[in-house]
Amino acid sequence: MTTATAVAHPNIALVKYWGKADASLALPATGSVSMGLDVFPTTTTVTVDDGVAGREAWDTFTLNGHLVEDGALVRVEQFLDLVRSLAGSSARAHVVSENTVPTGAGLASSASGFAALATAAAAAYGLDLSQRDLSRLARRGSGSATRSIPGGVAVWHAGDDHGSYAEPIPAPPMAMVVVTIDAGPKPIGSREAMRRTIATSPFYPSWVTSTTETVGDMLAACAAGDFTRIGELTESNALRMHATIEGAFPPIRYLTARSVAVFDAVAELRAAGVEAYATADAGPNVVVLTQPADRAAVASALAGLGDVIESGTGPGARLVRSEGPGTPDPGVAPATQESTE
Ligand code: DP6
Repeated sequence: MTTATAVAHPNIALVKYWGKADASLALPATGSVSMGLDVFPTTTTVTVDDGVAGREAWDTFTLNGHLVEDGALVRVEQFLDLVRSLAGSSARAHVVSENTVPTGAGLASSASGFAALATAAAAAYGLDLSQRDLSRLARRGSGSATRSIPGGVAVWHAGDDHGSYAEPIPAPPMAMVVVTIDAGPKPIGSREAMRRTIATSPFYPSWVTSTTETVGDMLAACAAGDFTRIGELTESNALRMHATIEGAFPPIRYLTARSVAVFDAVAELRAAGVEAYATADAGPNVVVLTQPADRAAVASALAGLGDVIESGTGPGARLVRSEGPGTPDPGVAPATQESTE
């Protein structure tokens, strides 16, 4: 029996990933850029049970104390199959996850979830992977999880199976204020909404072209430490993504009147001289990008519009415990190691 525990945090994209070039390999149509949060961690323990092997045995997945038996279990099993194929193992696993992100509410629960699962499962199956390899592996679980492996401000490269991974980039100090409007599950998941957008939104080709350009502009703004430009690009890219999604048929609209009220309040803050920029993923909740010195003021200005939580820039995924033959030393952060490319 080997067991490993990992912790990972969600990330919020400054330049969004919305659309796959290859669904089977989870390759994105464009690059994307994100900031990792230091709130809402997911802690996942994977225990590999060598006595349980082969097709007839099943993996188990317990999320926040409840045994999962629906599509989420299938996604976890498919991911573990990939890890098993890399490790040359047929042993089944028990996965126990504590997720503090409101699951399925468009607050990147799959990002922290699959980043923690990739890190724990790789260790429990005896794979000693570099940060880059872990990022490639997490990508196969959920695209946004790719960027939760490095944490911090990170770019996820579009590319082929080998070239599509996330890595940290230099950026100025930043903070976020998460405004949770509705923590319930969203009406349509991002995976299905992405498929529908690609298949039916007439705006999708322009989204791919403009986002590819925005990734380049964002990398330049981050390298220059130009917070204003980072914020402007962030808000613009989020609204372009939502416009593209709204163009799907039948239409999908994630932003509600209450979400739009937060965008308006953020514009008012800017007019009053506070630098703040709004973004939103596939759900009604709004995340506001600001500078560390302004985060408390932004949080109190938005407090009446939803549940407000402040976040700094968070760490990458890390192994916190591993026991059993062949598991890596949790003291060694995968972030510091690189495989031979
Ligand atoms: C709106 O990573 O959840 O949050 O790869 O199908 O699992 P899958 O999608 P997922 O999509 C995230 C979309 C987004 C934007 C982003 O995080 O870049």
